[in-house]
Amino acid sequence: MREQYLELIKNLVSSIKGYNYYPEGHPAREKPIYRVHEFLTKYLNDSPSLRIAIVEDTLVVEDIPLFDAQPGVMDLYNSMDQRKIGEILFFKGVTVDELKTLLHILAMPVEEFKSVDVDEYFLQKGVKFIEIIDKERDLKKKSKRVYTHAKKFIVEAMNEIRLGRVPRIEVAESIVASFDRILKRDESAIMALVMLSDYDNYTFNHSVNVGILTLALARELRWSDAEEVGIAGLLHDIGKTKTPIEIINKPGKLTPEEWEIMKKHPIDGAKIVQQMDKFKTDVSLMVLQHHVRYDRSGYPDIKNSKMIEGTHLITISDTYDSMTTLRPYQRRYDPKEALDIMVNKLRGKALHPRYLDTFVDMLGIYPVGSCVRLKSGEIAIVTGLNRSDPLHPSVKIILGKDGKYLPKPVEIDLTDKSERKKREIITLVNPTLLNIDVTRYL
Ligand SMILES: [Fe+2]
Repeated sequence: MREQYLELIKNLVSSIKGYNYYPEGHPAREKPIYRVHEFLTKYLNDSPSLRIAIVEDTLVVEDIPLFDAQPGVMDLYNSMDQRKIGEILFFKGVTVDELKTLLHILAMPVEEFKSVDVDEYFLQKGVKFIEIIDKERDLKKKSKRVYTHAKKFIVEAMNEIRLGRVPRIEVAESIVASFDRILKRDESAIMALVMLSDYDNYTFNHSVNVGILTLALARELRWSDAEEVGIAGLLHDIGKTKTPIEIINKPGKLTPEEWEIMKKHPIDGAKIVQQMDKFKTDVSLMVLQHHVRYDRSGYPDIKNSKMIEGTHLITISDTYDSMTTLRPYQRRYDPKEALDIMVNKLRGKALHPRYLDTFVDMLGIYPVGSCVRLKSGEIAIVTGLNRSDPLHPSVKIILGKDGKYLPKPVEIDLTDKSERKKREIITLVNPTLLNIDVTRYL
Protein backbone atom coordinates (compact mmCIF):
# COMPACT_ATOMS: atom_id res chain seq x y z
CA MET A 1 0.00 0.00 0.00
CA ARG A 2 2.88 2.34 0.80
CA GLU A 3 3.76 2.58 -2.92
CA GLN A 4 0.21 3.53 -3.82
CA TYR A 5 0.04 6.12 -1.08
CA LEU A 6 3.29 7.62 -2.32
CA GLU A 7 1.86 7.78 -5.81
CA LEU A 8 -1.18 9.59 -4.41
CA ILE A 9 1.00 12.13 -2.61
CA LYS A 10 3.08 12.68 -5.75
CA ASN A 11 -0.02 13.36 -7.82
CA LEU A 12 -1.49 15.58 -5.18
CA VAL A 13 1.69 17.66 -5.07
CA SER A 14 1.80 17.87 -8.88
CA SER A 15 -1.79 19.04 -8.78
CA ILE A 16 -0.93 21.78 -6.29
CA LYS A 17 2.03 22.91 -8.38
CA GLY A 18 0.03 22.70 -11.60
CA TYR A 19 -2.66 24.81 -9.97
CA ASN A 20 -0.18 27.65 -9.53
CA TYR A 21 1.67 27.39 -12.81
CA TYR A 22 -0.90 26.57 -15.47
CA PRO A 23 -4.22 28.14 -16.44
CA GLU A 24 -7.46 26.32 -15.84
CA GLY A 25 -8.13 23.54 -18.35
CA HIS A 26 -4.43 23.08 -19.19
CA PRO A 27 -3.62 19.33 -19.36
CA ALA A 28 -0.62 19.73 -17.03
CA ARG A 29 -3.00 21.12 -14.46
CA GLU A 30 -5.90 18.75 -15.02
CA LYS A 31 -4.17 15.38 -15.45
CA PRO A 32 -2.81 14.87 -11.95
CA ILE A 33 -6.15 15.93 -10.44
CA TYR A 34 -7.93 13.24 -12.42
CA ARG A 35 -5.30 10.72 -11.32
CA VAL A 36 -5.90 11.64 -7.68
CA HIS A 37 -9.62 11.36 -8.25
CA GLU A 38 -9.33 8.00 -9.94
CA PHE A 39 -7.23 6.60 -7.10
CA LEU A 40 -9.56 7.92 -4.40
CA THR A 41 -12.69 6.64 -6.11
CA LYS A 42 -11.25 3.13 -6.31
CA TYR A 43 -9.86 3.25 -2.79
CA LEU A 44 -13.05 4.55 -1.20
CA ASN A 45 -15.06 1.73 -2.69
CA ASP A 46 -13.69 -0.55 -0.02
CA SER A 47 -12.79 1.91 2.74
CA PRO A 48 -15.01 4.45 4.47
CA SER A 49 -12.38 7.20 4.29
CA LEU A 50 -8.79 8.04 3.50
CA ARG A 51 -6.78 10.15 5.86
CA ILE A 52 -3.65 12.17 5.20
CA ALA A 53 -2.33 13.56 8.46
CA ILE A 54 0.64 15.02 10.24
CA VAL A 55 1.34 12.86 13.27
CA GLU A 56 4.30 13.74 15.44
CA ASP A 57 6.06 15.62 12.67
CA THR A 58 5.59 12.86 10.14
CA LEU A 59 3.24 12.70 7.18
CA VAL A 60 1.04 9.62 7.37
CA VAL A 61 -1.52 8.20 4.98
CA GLU A 62 -4.00 6.11 6.92
CA ASP A 63 -1.57 4.68 9.48
CA ILE A 64 1.46 4.38 7.29
CA PRO A 65 4.22 6.95 7.86
CA LEU A 66 5.93 8.33 4.77
CA PHE A 67 9.44 9.71 4.98
CA ASP A 68 10.69 13.08 3.94
CA ALA A 69 13.12 11.79 1.36
CA GLN A 70 10.35 10.28 -0.72
CA PRO A 71 9.13 12.42 -3.63
CA GLY A 72 6.43 14.92 -2.77
CA VAL A 73 6.25 14.04 0.91
CA MET A 74 8.18 17.07 2.16
CA ASP A 75 6.20 19.39 -0.13
CA LEU A 76 2.84 18.22 1.13
CA TYR A 77 4.07 18.17 4.71
CA ASN A 78 5.18 21.81 4.42
CA SER A 79 2.05 22.84 2.67
CA MET A 80 -0.12 21.39 5.45
CA ASP A 81 2.17 22.46 8.26
CA GLN A 82 2.37 26.10 7.16
CA ARG A 83 -1.41 26.22 6.99
CA LYS A 84 -1.75 24.51 10.37
CA ILE A 85 -3.69 21.66 8.81
CA GLY A 86 -3.56 18.49 10.89
CA GLU A 87 -5.59 16.18 8.71
CA ILE A 88 -7.21 15.95 5.32
CA LEU A 89 -9.99 13.37 5.09
CA PHE A 90 -11.55 12.07 1.90
CA PHE A 91 -14.86 10.23 1.87
CA LYS A 92 -16.65 8.09 -0.67
CA GLY A 93 -18.32 10.28 -3.26
CA VAL A 94 -15.55 12.87 -3.52
CA THR A 95 -15.72 14.71 -6.86
CA VAL A 96 -13.17 16.37 -9.12
CA ASP A 97 -14.73 19.74 -8.30
CA GLU A 98 -14.29 19.11 -4.60
CA LEU A 99 -10.65 18.20 -5.18
CA LYS A 100 -10.21 21.46 -7.05
CA THR A 101 -11.64 23.35 -4.09
CA LEU A 102 -9.10 21.62 -1.85
CA LEU A 103 -6.26 22.43 -4.24
CA HIS A 104 -7.32 26.03 -4.34
CA ILE A 105 -6.82 26.14 -0.57
CA LEU A 106 -3.51 24.28 -0.62
CA ALA A 107 -2.13 26.31 -3.50
CA MET A 108 -2.95 29.77 -2.19
CA PRO A 109 -0.17 31.75 -0.49
CA VAL A 110 0.03 31.10 3.24
CA GLU A 111 -0.72 34.72 4.08
CA GLU A 112 -3.91 34.66 2.05
CA PHE A 113 -4.85 31.31 3.54
CA LYS A 114 -4.77 32.79 7.03
CA SER A 115 -7.64 35.08 6.17
CA VAL A 116 -9.84 32.24 4.87
CA ASP A 117 -12.22 30.31 7.08
CA VAL A 118 -11.79 26.87 5.56
CA ASP A 119 -14.93 25.36 7.07
CA GLU A 120 -17.03 28.18 5.72
CA TYR A 121 -15.31 28.11 2.33
CA PHE A 122 -16.00 24.39 1.97
CA LEU A 123 -19.64 24.82 2.99
CA GLN A 124 -20.11 27.64 0.51
CA LYS A 125 -18.66 25.48 -2.24
CA GLY A 126 -20.96 22.62 -1.22
CA VAL A 127 -18.04 20.28 -0.44
CA LYS A 128 -19.41 17.16 1.22
CA PHE A 129 -16.74 14.54 0.93
CA ILE A 130 -13.53 16.27 1.97
CA GLU A 131 -12.82 17.52 5.45
CA ILE A 132 -9.94 19.54 6.79
CA ILE A 133 -9.09 19.33 10.46
CA ASP A 134 -6.74 21.89 11.92
CA LYS A 135 -3.69 21.03 13.93
CA GLU A 136 -5.32 21.58 17.28
CA ARG A 137 -7.87 18.90 16.43
CA ASP A 138 -10.22 20.53 18.88
CA LEU A 139 -13.57 18.97 18.11
CA LYS A 140 -15.48 21.27 20.41
CA LYS A 141 -14.19 24.34 18.61
CA LYS A 142 -14.81 22.75 15.25
CA SER A 143 -18.41 21.88 16.08
CA LYS A 144 -18.98 25.41 17.33
CA ARG A 145 -17.67 26.75 14.03
CA VAL A 146 -19.89 24.47 11.96
CA TYR A 147 -22.84 25.45 14.17
CA THR A 148 -22.16 29.14 13.56
CA HIS A 149 -21.94 28.60 9.81
CA ALA A 150 -25.15 26.60 9.85
CA LYS A 151 -26.88 29.44 11.65
CA LYS A 152 -25.49 31.92 9.15
CA PHE A 153 -26.77 29.74 6.32
CA ILE A 154 -30.31 29.86 7.72
CA VAL A 155 -30.11 33.65 8.13
CA GLU A 156 -28.82 34.09 4.58
CA ALA A 157 -31.25 31.59 3.09
CA MET A 158 -34.15 33.47 4.66
CA ASN A 159 -32.82 36.77 3.34
CA GLU A 160 -32.46 35.36 -0.14
CA ILE A 161 -36.02 34.07 -0.11
CA ARG A 162 -37.22 37.53 0.90
CA LEU A 163 -35.35 38.92 -2.10
CA GLY A 164 -37.07 36.41 -4.37
CA ARG A 165 -33.99 34.26 -4.82
CA VAL A 166 -33.64 30.52 -4.21
CA PRO A 167 -31.09 29.39 -1.59
CA ARG A 168 -28.67 26.63 -2.57
CA ILE A 169 -29.47 23.17 -1.31
CA GLU A 170 -25.78 22.19 -1.68
CA VAL A 171 -24.88 24.35 1.31
CA ALA A 172 -27.53 22.64 3.44
CA GLU A 173 -26.23 19.25 2.31
CA SER A 174 -22.69 20.18 3.13
CA ILE A 175 -23.67 21.44 6.61
CA VAL A 176 -25.52 18.23 7.41
CA ALA A 177 -22.57 16.16 6.15
CA SER A 178 -20.27 18.11 8.51
CA PHE A 179 -22.60 17.58 11.49
CA ASP A 180 -22.76 13.93 10.59
CA ARG A 181 -18.99 13.56 10.77
CA ILE A 182 -18.79 15.40 14.09
CA LEU A 183 -21.57 13.22 15.52
CA LYS A 184 -19.69 10.11 14.52
CA ARG A 185 -16.58 11.28 16.34
CA ASP A 186 -18.13 12.65 19.49
CA GLU A 187 -21.83 13.16 19.88
CA SER A 188 -21.45 14.95 23.21
CA ALA A 189 -19.61 17.82 21.53
CA ILE A 190 -22.55 18.48 19.32
CA MET A 191 -25.31 17.71 21.80
CA ALA A 192 -23.84 20.37 24.07
CA LEU A 193 -24.29 22.89 21.28
CA VAL A 194 -27.96 22.15 21.09
CA MET A 195 -28.23 23.51 24.63
CA LEU A 196 -26.59 26.81 23.79
CA SER A 197 -28.91 29.51 22.70
CA ASP A 198 -29.73 33.13 22.95
CA TYR A 199 -33.00 35.04 22.90
CA ASP A 200 -32.32 37.01 19.75
CA ASN A 201 -31.59 34.20 17.41
CA TYR A 202 -34.32 31.84 18.45
CA THR A 203 -35.56 30.90 14.98
CA PHE A 204 -32.07 30.32 13.64
CA ASN A 205 -30.78 28.38 16.64
CA HIS A 206 -33.93 26.33 16.65
CA SER A 207 -33.60 25.38 12.97
CA VAL A 208 -30.01 24.24 13.45
CA ASN A 209 -30.85 22.35 16.65
CA VAL A 210 -33.73 20.51 15.04
CA GLY A 211 -31.44 19.67 12.11
CA ILE A 212 -28.83 18.19 14.46
CA LEU A 213 -31.27 16.28 16.66
CA THR A 214 -33.19 14.88 13.69
CA LEU A 215 -30.00 13.76 12.00
CA ALA A 216 -28.73 12.16 15.21
CA LEU A 217 -32.01 10.32 15.73
CA ALA A 218 -32.11 9.06 12.14
CA ARG A 219 -28.52 7.82 12.56
CA GLU A 220 -29.44 6.18 15.83
CA LEU A 221 -32.22 4.33 13.98
CA ARG A 222 -29.65 3.42 11.31
CA TRP A 223 -31.67 4.91 8.50
CA SER A 224 -29.90 5.02 5.18
CA ASP A 225 -31.49 8.37 4.31
CA ALA A 226 -30.44 9.99 7.60
CA GLU A 227 -28.79 12.98 5.89
CA GLU A 228 -31.91 13.72 3.90
CA VAL A 229 -34.00 13.67 7.09
CA GLY A 230 -31.42 15.97 8.71
CA ILE A 231 -31.71 18.44 5.83
CA ALA A 232 -35.48 18.46 6.27
CA GLY A 233 -34.95 19.13 9.98
CA LEU A 234 -32.63 22.03 9.21
CA LEU A 235 -35.08 23.55 6.74
CA HIS A 236 -38.32 22.68 8.53
CA ASP A 237 -39.28 26.25 9.42
CA ILE A 238 -37.88 27.95 6.31
CA GLY A 239 -41.45 28.83 5.31
CA LYS A 240 -41.59 31.25 8.23
CA THR A 241 -39.83 33.70 5.93
CA LYS A 242 -43.27 34.37 4.51
CA THR A 243 -44.91 34.80 7.92
CA PRO A 244 -45.10 38.43 9.11
CA ILE A 245 -42.49 39.08 11.78
CA GLU A 246 -45.11 40.56 14.17
CA ILE A 247 -46.88 37.21 14.23
CA ILE A 248 -43.68 35.23 14.76
CA ASN A 249 -42.55 37.46 17.60
CA LYS A 250 -45.92 38.00 19.20
CA PRO A 251 -45.55 37.31 22.89
CA GLY A 252 -49.10 36.31 23.74
CA LYS A 253 -51.68 34.09 22.13
CA LEU A 254 -52.40 34.52 18.43
CA THR A 255 -55.83 35.63 17.26
CA PRO A 256 -57.71 33.11 15.03
CA GLU A 257 -56.77 35.18 11.95
CA GLU A 258 -53.12 35.32 12.93
CA TRP A 259 -53.16 31.62 13.64
CA GLU A 260 -54.45 30.91 10.11
CA ILE A 261 -51.52 32.85 8.70
CA MET A 262 -49.06 31.05 10.98
CA LYS A 263 -50.41 27.70 9.80
CA LYS A 264 -49.28 28.44 6.26
CA HIS A 265 -45.56 28.16 6.99
CA PRO A 266 -45.24 24.41 6.33
CA ILE A 267 -46.89 24.84 2.92
CA ASP A 268 -44.68 27.79 2.04
CA GLY A 269 -41.64 25.90 3.29
CA ALA A 270 -42.40 22.86 1.15
CA LYS A 271 -42.69 25.10 -1.93
CA ILE A 272 -39.33 26.71 -1.18
CA VAL A 273 -37.60 23.35 -0.77
CA GLN A 274 -39.07 22.21 -4.06
CA GLN A 275 -37.55 25.23 -5.74
CA MET A 276 -34.21 24.52 -4.10
CA ASP A 277 -34.13 21.02 -5.52
CA LYS A 278 -37.04 19.48 -7.36
CA PHE A 279 -35.67 15.98 -6.76
CA LYS A 280 -35.87 16.30 -3.00
CA THR A 281 -39.52 15.29 -2.87
CA ASP A 282 -39.26 13.65 0.53
CA VAL A 283 -37.51 16.64 2.09
CA SER A 284 -40.23 18.88 0.78
CA LEU A 285 -42.93 16.53 2.10
CA MET A 286 -41.34 16.35 5.55
CA VAL A 287 -41.28 20.14 5.69
CA LEU A 288 -44.93 20.17 4.64
CA GLN A 289 -45.90 17.66 7.34
CA HIS A 290 -43.78 18.81 10.26
CA HIS A 291 -46.79 20.02 12.26
CA VAL A 292 -48.86 16.92 11.54
CA ARG A 293 -48.72 14.85 14.69
CA TYR A 294 -48.49 11.12 15.10
CA ASP A 295 -52.24 10.90 15.75
CA ARG A 296 -52.83 13.02 12.63
CA SER A 297 -53.95 16.07 14.56
CA GLY A 298 -52.12 19.31 13.79
CA TYR A 299 -51.81 21.05 10.45
CA PRO A 300 -52.06 21.18 7.47
CA ASP A 301 -54.72 18.57 6.83
CA ILE A 302 -52.92 16.10 4.61
CA LYS A 303 -56.10 14.04 4.23
CA ASN A 304 -55.30 10.41 3.74
CA SER A 305 -51.94 10.84 2.15
CA LYS A 306 -49.06 8.93 3.63
CA MET A 307 -46.88 10.42 6.30
CA ILE A 308 -43.19 10.34 5.55
CA GLU A 309 -41.41 8.44 8.33
CA GLY A 310 -38.80 11.15 8.79
CA THR A 311 -41.52 13.63 9.71
CA HIS A 312 -41.96 11.88 13.06
CA LEU A 313 -38.31 12.50 13.87
CA ILE A 314 -38.63 16.20 13.08
CA THR A 315 -41.73 16.47 15.29
CA ILE A 316 -39.88 14.85 18.20
CA SER A 317 -36.80 17.06 17.82
CA ASP A 318 -38.93 20.14 17.28
CA THR A 319 -40.93 19.50 20.46
CA TYR A 320 -37.82 18.81 22.53
CA ASP A 321 -35.90 21.83 21.31
CA SER A 322 -38.85 24.20 21.71
CA MET A 323 -39.14 23.11 25.32
CA THR A 324 -35.46 23.31 26.19
CA THR A 325 -34.41 26.49 24.40
CA LEU A 326 -34.46 29.89 25.90
CA ARG A 327 -37.26 31.93 24.42
CA PRO A 328 -38.76 35.23 25.37
CA TYR A 329 -41.89 34.82 27.49
CA GLN A 330 -41.40 31.12 27.95
CA ARG A 331 -39.92 29.12 30.77
CA ARG A 332 -37.14 26.85 29.74
CA TYR A 333 -37.39 23.20 30.66
CA ASP A 334 -34.48 21.14 31.78
CA PRO A 335 -33.58 18.38 29.28
CA LYS A 336 -34.75 15.64 31.62
CA GLU A 337 -37.92 17.48 32.52
CA ALA A 338 -38.77 17.98 28.85
CA LEU A 339 -38.20 14.30 28.07
CA ASP A 340 -40.44 13.28 30.98
CA ILE A 341 -43.28 15.45 29.70
CA MET A 342 -42.82 14.11 26.19
CA VAL A 343 -42.95 10.51 27.41
CA ASN A 344 -45.78 10.92 29.90
CA LYS A 345 -48.05 13.23 27.97
CA LEU A 346 -47.22 13.03 24.29
CA ARG A 347 -46.02 9.49 23.62
CA GLY A 348 -48.32 7.73 21.17
CA LYS A 349 -50.44 10.85 20.82
CA ALA A 350 -48.53 13.75 19.31
CA LEU A 351 -45.29 11.80 19.07
CA HIS A 352 -44.38 8.47 17.50
CA PRO A 353 -43.91 6.09 20.45
CA ARG A 354 -41.07 3.92 19.19
CA TYR A 355 -39.01 6.75 17.75
CA LEU A 356 -39.53 8.72 20.94
CA ASP A 357 -38.16 5.80 22.98
CA THR A 358 -35.05 5.78 20.80
CA PHE A 359 -34.74 9.54 21.21
CA VAL A 360 -34.88 9.23 24.99
CA ASP A 361 -32.26 6.45 24.94
CA MET A 362 -30.09 8.55 22.69
CA LEU A 363 -30.09 11.57 24.97
CA GLY A 364 -29.38 9.36 27.97
CA ILE A 365 -30.60 9.18 31.52
CA TYR A 366 -28.77 12.39 32.27
CA PRO A 367 -28.79 14.34 29.00
CA VAL A 368 -25.95 16.74 28.25
CA GLY A 369 -26.84 20.04 29.91
CA SER A 370 -28.57 18.48 32.93
CA CYS A 371 -27.75 19.74 36.38
CA VAL A 372 -27.09 17.04 38.99
CA ARG A 373 -26.31 16.64 42.68
CA LEU A 374 -23.46 14.27 43.52
CA LYS A 375 -23.05 12.00 46.53
CA SER A 376 -20.29 14.33 47.70
CA GLY A 377 -22.82 17.14 47.99
CA GLU A 378 -21.39 18.97 45.01
CA ILE A 379 -23.46 20.26 42.10
CA ALA A 380 -22.37 19.49 38.55
CA ILE A 381 -23.43 19.92 34.93
CA VAL A 382 -23.48 16.90 32.61
CA THR A 383 -21.08 17.60 29.75
CA GLY A 384 -20.69 14.26 28.02
CA LEU A 385 -22.54 10.97 27.60
CA ASN A 386 -21.12 7.51 28.10
CA ARG A 387 -23.23 5.39 25.83
CA SER A 388 -22.08 2.11 27.34
CA ASP A 389 -22.68 3.34 30.88
CA PRO A 390 -25.42 5.99 30.81
CA LEU A 391 -25.57 6.32 34.60
CA HIS A 392 -22.01 7.63 34.63
CA PRO A 393 -21.56 10.57 32.29
CA SER A 394 -18.77 13.16 32.29
CA VAL A 395 -19.61 16.16 34.44
CA LYS A 396 -18.28 19.56 35.34
CA ILE A 397 -18.46 20.30 39.05
CA ILE A 398 -19.40 23.93 39.59
CA LEU A 399 -20.59 24.19 43.20
CA GLY A 400 -18.66 22.72 46.13
CA LYS A 401 -20.11 20.92 49.16
CA ASP A 402 -20.57 24.28 50.84
CA GLY A 403 -22.83 25.42 47.99
CA LYS A 404 -20.26 27.98 46.86
CA TYR A 405 -19.00 28.31 43.30
CA LEU A 406 -15.61 26.71 42.74
CA PRO A 407 -12.98 29.17 41.49
CA LYS A 408 -12.73 27.01 38.37
CA PRO A 409 -15.12 24.20 37.36
CA VAL A 410 -13.60 20.73 37.63
CA GLU A 411 -14.31 18.25 34.87
CA ILE A 412 -14.47 14.57 35.82
CA ASP A 413 -15.45 11.34 34.14
CA LEU A 414 -17.76 9.32 36.37
CA THR A 415 -16.83 6.06 34.66
CA ASP A 416 -13.55 6.48 36.54
CA LYS A 417 -14.07 4.16 39.52
CA SER A 418 -12.16 6.25 42.06
CA GLU A 419 -14.29 9.28 41.24
CA ARG A 420 -17.50 7.34 41.21
CA LYS A 421 -17.14 6.13 44.78
CA LYS A 422 -17.49 9.55 46.28
CA ARG A 423 -19.32 11.23 43.44
CA GLU A 424 -22.18 9.00 42.28
CA ILE A 425 -25.08 11.03 40.88
CA ILE A 426 -27.82 11.22 43.49
CA THR A 427 -30.46 13.26 41.72
CA LEU A 428 -31.26 15.81 39.07
CA VAL A 429 -31.68 19.33 40.30
CA ASN A 430 -33.45 22.25 38.74
CA PRO A 431 -30.77 24.78 37.72
CA THR A 432 -33.21 27.68 37.77
CA LEU A 433 -33.90 27.15 41.46
CA LEU A 434 -30.19 27.43 42.15
CA ASN A 435 -29.84 30.31 39.75
CA ILE A 436 -27.38 28.46 37.54
CA ASP A 437 -26.94 29.30 33.88
CA VAL A 438 -26.12 25.85 32.50
CA THR A 439 -25.05 27.06 29.07
CA ARG A 440 -22.05 28.85 30.55
CA TYR A 441 -20.46 25.52 31.29
CA LEU A 442 -20.99 23.66 28.01
FE1 LIG B 1 -42.87 24.95 12.29
